[in-house]
Amino acid sequence: MTVDAVPSPVRPSSGVQLAVYPGSFDPIHNGHVDIILRGARLFDRIVVALLRNAEKVPLFSIEERIDLMREVFRSQPNVEIDAFDGLLVDYARQKHASVIVRGLRAVSDFEFEFQLALMNRRLSPEIETVFMMPAEPYTYTSSRLIKEVFALGGVVSGLVPETVERRLREKRAGGT
Ligand code: PNS
Repeated sequence: MTVDAVPSPVRPSSGVQLAVYPGSFDPIHNGHVDIILRGARLFDRIVVALLRNAEKVPLFSIEERIDLMREVFRSQPNVEIDAFDGLLVDYARQKHASVIVRGLRAVSDFEFEFQLALMNRRLSPEIETVFMMPAEPYTYTSSRLIKEVFALGGVVSGLVPETVERRLREKRAGGT
C-alpha cells in the first residue's frame, strides 16, 4: 500500500474544515445534540443535514424539525441546519465538506454504519466518515424509542431538548 492509494480529502481554498452530520432527526434528541456539539468543537463548521425524502412517515415534518433544531442551536454560530435530497455524498461535495460525521452508540449500530460509510467511500473516496460516541447517558437514546415512550405516557425529560419536549406535548394535545 502506498500513501497515494489514500485520496486527499477535499479542502476548500478557504481552508475551512467543514463536516456534514446527516440524519432523520425525528425528533432530535440529546444524543444528537451531544454529537453536534462535539463536532462543532472539532471542525470549523458542522452542517446538520436532514434527509428530506425518507420513506418512513415522520412524526415531525421537515419544516418542524428544521425549526426545532434551529432553536436548539441558535447560540452556536458554527452549527448550520439544512435539508438535503438525493445522495449524501453529492450533498457533501456541494457543501465542500471533507467529513461525514455519524454517531456510534453501541455495537448494534456498527453493521449499518459500516455499510453506509463504505458505500459512501466507494461513491466519493475523498470524503471521510468520522464516527463519534455520545456521552454515556445517551448510549441507549434513539428517536424511535423517544417517540414510543412519549406516546405511551413515559417521561422523556433529560433525553430531548426542552423545546422538543414542549413540541411533543403540543402535538399530543393538538392531535397534530
Ligand atoms: O438518522 P438516520 O435515518 O440513521 O440517517 C440515515 C441517512 C440519512 C444518513 C442515510 O439514509 C442517507 O445518507 N441517506 C441519503 C441517501 C444516500 O446517500 N444513500 C446511500 C448511502 S449508503
